[in-house]
Amino acid sequence: MYEQVLFKNRRAGRPATISEYRAGGGYQVLADVIKKNSRADLIDCLKESGLRGRGGAGFPTWRKWSFVRPDAPHPRYIGANTDEMEPGTYKDRVLVNTDPHLVIEGIVLAGYAIGAQKAFYFIRPTYEMDAELIEGEIRVAKEAGVLGDRILGSDFSFDIVVHRSAGRYICGEATAMVQAIMGKRAHPQKDVHMTDKGLWNKPTVVNNAETLACVPLIVKNGGAWFKGLARTPNAAGTKLYCISGKVKQPGCYELPMGIPLREILENLAGGMLPGSELKAFIPGGASTSYMPPKFLDVAMDDEGLQAVGHRFGTGAIMVFDQHSCMVAATLNLMEYFARESCGFCTPCREGFPYIRDLLWRIETGEGKEEYITMLREMAGHMQKAYCAFAPGAAEPLRGLLEYFEAEIREHISQRGCPFKEKYPPSRDLWYPPEA
Ligand SMILES: Cc1cc2nc3c(=O)[nH]c(=O)nc-3n(C[C@H](O)[C@H](O)[C@H](O)COP(=O)(O)O)c2cc1C
Ligand code: SF4
Repeated sequence: MYEQVLFKNRRAGRPATISEYRAGGGYQVLADVIKKNSRADLIDCLKESGLRGRGGAGFPTWRKWSFVRPDAPHPRYIGANTDEMEPGTYKDRVLVNTDPHLVIEGIVLAGYAIGAQKAFYFIRPTYEMDAELIEGEIRVAKEAGVLGDRILGSDFSFDIVVHRSAGRYICGEATAMVQAIMGKRAHPQKDVHMTDKGLWNKPTVVNNAETLACVPLIVKNGGAWFKGLARTPNAAGTKLYCISGKVKQPGCYELPMGIPLREILENLAGGMLPGSELKAFIPGGASTSYMPPKFLDVAMDDEGLQAVGHRFGTGAIMVFDQHSCMVAATLNLMEYFARESCGFCTPCREGFPYIRDLLWRIETGEGKEEYITMLREMAGHMQKAYCAFAPGAAEPLRGLLEYFEAEIREHISQRGCPFKEKYPPSRDLWYPPEA
């Protein structure tokens, strides 16, 4: 019913082998590109395709690649990002387990386009099985001559090394990731142009694994074809949407970019669980705001969500029903973000524990009216933090204050959670404030 391009080789229970990938034309694109020696054509093709990064920021891929000047110094590097620590997001893991060679060919093509010598496949440590899978398939690709020294008999040599992250959310932020790979503390680096000075001060392009997997398909079928896969005129391609929460069939689905949530919910996720009614959803991972059901028909793409004051993020949808306590849900997320702050700048390091403590008090019956104003001020302060972590992490709080202020007030006036009969708040789940 929906055209499958990234998931064309999806099989139950196992990834596609290199032979299966090749049977569908895999690695032929790489052979053609190397034969034609057409770096500029590759970037032009991406430009026509309208591909934007799938890692959360939606930056045009062709533009990022074109920042690496032809006379830039060597060695040059690719960072393939599968850190995926954004709660709700698991698409890169599913993708790698579906068609590892699609991702590998995308990385090699990216390397060819910017004249790189090496890629780091950056992966979270809890994805150990997937790290080993990729390591195994890298060996297979080398044996097949599509990776390693003198690829397919050409003068282009390129290697991929799997690098396990230390396991913090901030390590997925591109500049922090570069620090992590170099063995330094993973602090984000503002005002650093990584395409000039990235890994070891050499040109580095960081892309999400899903972004990279789109590249062989675009080169094979043309930019216009890819653009035409989207549902909305300004978006491009298909998208791996994850859906979780109070739905009948949670999962990762490949769908046209720009499809509305209503269609995902009804056609793919099988609707809400019996007895559940939609109360809110998060459109793109924990760093995006709650949205109430009135937004069900908004196009799920960068432009569609921006037009209604929201962020698309990673396309990882979380669904809440009428029994979900939005204060508890936000407390849960703030607990995560307080723990994951890298601690480099004050608003974020001090702010998230403070926000979390206010929510804990509200949830457990110690809330006061003035906490609502304090939460609003704190959400504002998060915009002044050093990197994109804090404004993103504050998004669910913004959504709570914008759409569920009445629910916060109910907690305060009733001295506790109005949902506690169905889902009693667990004091064991969250640490109490430090007083
Ligand atoms: C806190 C934080 C965590 C991030 N984690 C990831 C991640 O796990 N994977 C990813 O691809 N991008 C992540 N990003 C976005 C990256 O900084 C970067 O924009 C992306 O990897 C670029 O690839 P793309 O252009 O293909 O999307 C994160 C950003 C922030 C602020
Ligand atoms: S906002 Fe500041 S403390 Fe938070 S992750 Fe970024 S640099 Fe670190």
